[in-house]
Formats: sequence, structure tokens, C-alpha cells
Amino acid sequence: MNALKKFGCRVYQKVMWVALWFLPWRKPELLQFDNGVEGLPAYIEKMGLKKVLLVSDEFFKNQGFCDKLVNAFKESKVECVWYYKAVPNPTTDCVEEGYKMYKENACEGIVAFGGGSPMDCAKGIGARAARPNTPISKMKGLMKVMHKLPPLFAIPTTAGTGSEATVAAVISDPRTHEKYPINDPNLIPRFAILDPKQTENLPPHMTSTTGVDALTHAVEAYIGSANTAETKKMAKEATKLIFENLEEAYKNPHNLQARDAMQKAAFYAGIAFTRAYVGNVHAMAHTLGGMYGVPHGLANAIILPMMLDEYGSTAWKKLAQLADVAGINGKDDEEKAKNFIQAIKDMNERMNIPTQIGVPGKSDKWAIKDEDIHLMSQRAEHEANPLYPCPKLFTVEEFEALFKKLQYKA
Ligand SMILES: NC(=O)c1ccc[n+]([C@@H]2O[C@H](COP(=O)([O-])OP(=O)(O)OC[C@H]3O[C@@H](n4cnc5c(N)ncnc54)[C@H](O)[C@@H]3O)[C@@H](O)[C@H]2O)c1
Ligand SMILES: [Fe+2]
Repeated sequence: MNALKKFGCRVYQKVMWVALWFLPWRKPELLQFDNGVEGLPAYIEKMGLKKVLLVSDEFFKNQGFCDKLVNAFKESKVECVWYYKAVPNPTTDCVEEGYKMYKENACEGIVAFGGGSPMDCAKGIGARAARPNTPISKMKGLMKVMHKLPPLFAIPTTAGTGSEATVAAVISDPRTHEKYPINDPNLIPRFAILDPKQTENLPPHMTSTTGVDALTHAVEAYIGSANTAETKKMAKEATKLIFENLEEAYKNPHNLQARDAMQKAAFYAGIAFTRAYVGNVHAMAHTLGGMYGVPHGLANAIILPMMLDEYGSTAWKKLAQLADVAGINGKDDEEKAKNFIQAIKDMNERMNIPTQIGVPGKSDKWAIKDEDIHLMSQRAEHEANPLYPCPKLFTVEEFEALFKKLQYKA
């Protein structure tokens, strides 16, 4: 990147870092009930809400994962209207459909039950309820919601996105195949319920990839230059928990202690990146998600070690600090950082995560087409610059080279 553009990006990032101190930051209130999520309807009843929209995906409906919660609503005085069509990589259409149900039924709050996709869809629906005259596509970017959402209760069932704690909703446009974040403190859920039992059914490949998504949040936040004392602490804590527990949760899905640690890790990493941003890994992963539907966690897990290698010495010092908390040794910063990156590669390999997109039997559903690389690189560059305060900034041409590295060629 030329020096002038780089200087402009770095000035923008500094100004944003100062400006963020003036935003109304808050964390979701963590709710805990003796009977798990089934305690929520009684709590909502006490708050005086009469009708809520439950947002999940169809898989949850078909598997009966929401049944206990739905039955608990039936036993309460709170009516629950169920929107169960939130798709993975949720779309503008899902948001509009869900909002229509919310409005037609005069709902007063939203319960998001699922992974990042239903949670982000619920945030989008909440944003539409807060701004009925503004389509969701017009809220893309920073600080475009600007109105208080109805009460939003987030129940994460993956330990990855941290959406239950963040300012972000990531939405895809099915017409342009673009996937973009909407960032606004109003999107931070009012309440979250971290119940490890809800992640017990997560299959191993989802446990691993969503877990590395959480690691990516922690690492990208930590190595960027927008940290506060709190985001550093949260990123380190998340990194430690993930290195200690992710493979155990992958191997033994019913180990609730490991599941609990992973849920906490995802939440902490969410708190870290919501203030300190993600980075180039996410810019590329969002682009792949929008273009081909590559699952978010898988895309991040594949890109993370490649990007950390690419950052070279610009990230060694901070990666060495993360290596320390993860118990990874080395004689100096360079060796520790390299060992940390190798540890991610080794962990990915043990969890059967491929190193490229398009690998037969592992990621071939989403093979990258040559003709899409330029557009994807433009989109990744547009998401990353000037916003993300990464150790190294890349031009469109440099993103093209990175997408080519990801491309599996037989
Ligand atoms: N808002 C944010 O801060 C933020 C941060 C990172 C990612 N995201 C977004 O979140 C989305 C990805 O979310 P995700 O990775 O949690 O996956 P997801 O919500 O897309 O779910 C993936 C699949 O896992 C299934 N699943 C979820 N929980 C399950 C469980 N407990 N048992 C069995 N199956 C289960 C779902 O039904 C679905 O088929 C992406 O769109 C990504 O861009 C948002
Ligand atoms: Fe993510």
C-alpha cells in the first residue's frame, strides 16, 4: 500500500480509537435460571412484556431444540411468535420477513436462539423495529442504527461468534452476494443467557470451526492497535480458555466443563473485538461467506494462520504475548510468535480443518473461482480499510494474492 493511503488509514484509525471512548458502551446483562433457558418466559413476564418474537433457524425447529422454551412460553402469560427461517449467513430477506412478523403481531421484544446467524438476524429485525422507515441495507457500516432496539435476549448455541456481546450484525445480500457488518452499540443485546447445555449437540466440525472463529476474534482484536486495558484482558483470557478447552469440547461433546469454558471464551472474545475490531481475516471470510456461503467459522479457521504468517514481524511482539498466555514457549518474540501460529495450524489439523478452500472432501463445496477473485478482493479491501487497525494493511492487489493462496488447485 502506498505511504499516503496508509497514513490516511492510520490517522482514521487513531481518530476512531479516540471517538470510541465517547460511545455508550455496555455489556449484556447475563441471566441465569435454575431451570436453564426455560426460566426466561417467567422473567420476561415479570418485565411486563406481553408478546415476543422468537428467532431461530429451521434446523432448530426440525430437531425440536426450541421445544422446551416454546412450551415454557405457553405456560407463561407471554405469547411467543416464532420466526424460524433465519438461514446461516442471514440475509436481508430473512430480516425483512422476520420484521414483518414482528410488526404484524405487535411484538414487544425479541428472543434469539441459535448461533451467530439467528442472533444477527434478530439484531437486524430489532434494528428494523427501531427504524421502521429504513431498510436494513441502508444500515450497513458504522453507527447507522442510532435508535434503541426493543429488548433483545440472546441465547447462543455455538461457542464462536460472541454476537451475544457485540455491536455487530453481519448480514448478506442475496442479490449482490455481498456480506457486510452493521456496527452500532444499539445492537448489543440487552440480555444474554450462557447455558453450556445448549452447545452440547453441536457436531464436532461445528465445535471446531466456531471455536476457531472465537480465537480469531481474540487474536485479531489483540494484535490490532485499537485496544483498551479491558479488550487486552478479555482477548488474553479467551485465548487461554480456547487453547485449554477447544479440543476437549471437540473430542468429548458432553464435557460440560469444556463447553462452559468455550462459551465464556466466545463471550470474552466478543467483548474484545466489539471495541477493538476484527481484521483482515474477517474481511476475507465475510467476502467468502457472501460469495459462496462458506461457513464463517471455517473460513476464519482456514485464513487465520495464513494471515498471521503474512503479517510477519509486524505481529511478533503481540503474538508472543498471546503465546505466553497459551503456554507456548520460545526463546524470543519471533520464535514464540512462530510457535503460536504453528500451534494453531497443528490444532486445526488435529480437528480436520483444511488449509485451503476447495480441498476435496473438506471444503470443495465452495471452490474459489478465478473470475470472482478481483471482486472479492475489492470487497475485502473495502471492509478492511480504513477501519480495521491491523498490523499490516493490504491493497486490492495484495488481497488478490491472498485469495489465490487460499485457492486449492489439484
Ligand atoms: N455479530 C457478530 O458479532 C458476529 C461475529 C462473528 C460472526 N458473525 C456471524 O455469525 C454467523 C455464523 O454463526 P455461527 O458460526 O454461530 O453459525 P450459525 O448460526 O450459522 O449456525 C451454523 C449451523 O449450526 C447449527 N447449529 C447451531 N447451534 C447448534 C447446536 N447447538 N447444535 C447443533 N447444531 C447447531 C445451525 O442450525 C446451523 O445449521 C455468520 O453469519 C457470521 O458472519 C457475527
Ligand atoms: Fe467471526
